[in-house]
Amino acid sequence: MQPRVNIETKRLALVLPSPSMAPRAVAFFAQNRAHLEPWEPPRPSGYYTESWWRERLERGLREFEADLSLRLMLFWRGQPESPVLGTVNFTSFVRGALQACSVGYSLDRNLQGQGLMTEALRGAIPYVFGDLGFHRISAGYLPTNERSGRVLRRLGFVVEGFARDYLYIGGAFRDHVLTALTNPSAMAPRGL
Ligand SMILES: CC(C)(COP(=O)(O)OP(=O)(O)OC[C@H]1O[C@@H](n2cnc3c(N)ncnc32)[C@H](O)[C@@H]1OP(=O)(O)O)[C@@H](O)C(=O)NCCC(=O)NCCS
Repeated sequence: MQPRVNIETKRLALVLPSPSMAPRAVAFFAQNRAHLEPWEPPRPSGYYTESWWRERLERGLREFEADLSLRLMLFWRGQPESPVLGTVNFTSFVRGALQACSVGYSLDRNLQGQGLMTEALRGAIPYVFGDLGFHRISAGYLPTNERSGRVLRRLGFVVEGFARDYLYIGGAFRDHVLTALTNPSAMAPRGL
């Protein structure tokens, strides 16, 4: 079945994944556990199981339908059976006069340094600004996460502040650099 959202870039397909992709999701997160855990909040119990991911992916579809989130997974373009290469999650949707969401992302540890995340976000952002009609995308990162900071700078995200004790990661609330990208050609919000 054709996924509901399928954004293609030169090398990648960004897909709103179906529950049948749960085994590939588990493989990605299990293989990248040590790579991702330093930068992300603690994992809920059951996170590395297929049943947890099947439910998470079902919820992802419902959240998209309800205009609450867009949780994408990255695959090689033109390879439907490709392993999961990474994730790009747009969450915290706020409509009304704000029209904002937040973005978080991860890439397989062995695929870093090839411009794949920059390429993925360059594909996803026009969809989020254009098709979904958002005006602002926020992104926060740990000050020590220089790779993530470089991705955001390349894409034009601007540092807006520094939040002390912002997010619970690695056993403590950690400071974050707060950045955002705004859509210069945004239309007036629908329904206002
Ligand atoms: C953050 C993360 C996605 C960045 O991955 P990345 O590979 O550095 O980012 P990109 O895929 O955009 O690649 C950019 C790098 O590839 C290089 N590159 C090589 N070929 C390239 C190409 N064809 N096009 C663009 N860049 C290319 C760039 O020079 C750049 O290297 P630099 O940052 O040393 O200058 C990755 O490190 C990750 O998954 N980290 C763990 C999770 C995480 O931190 N998430 C974010 C939490 S805020």
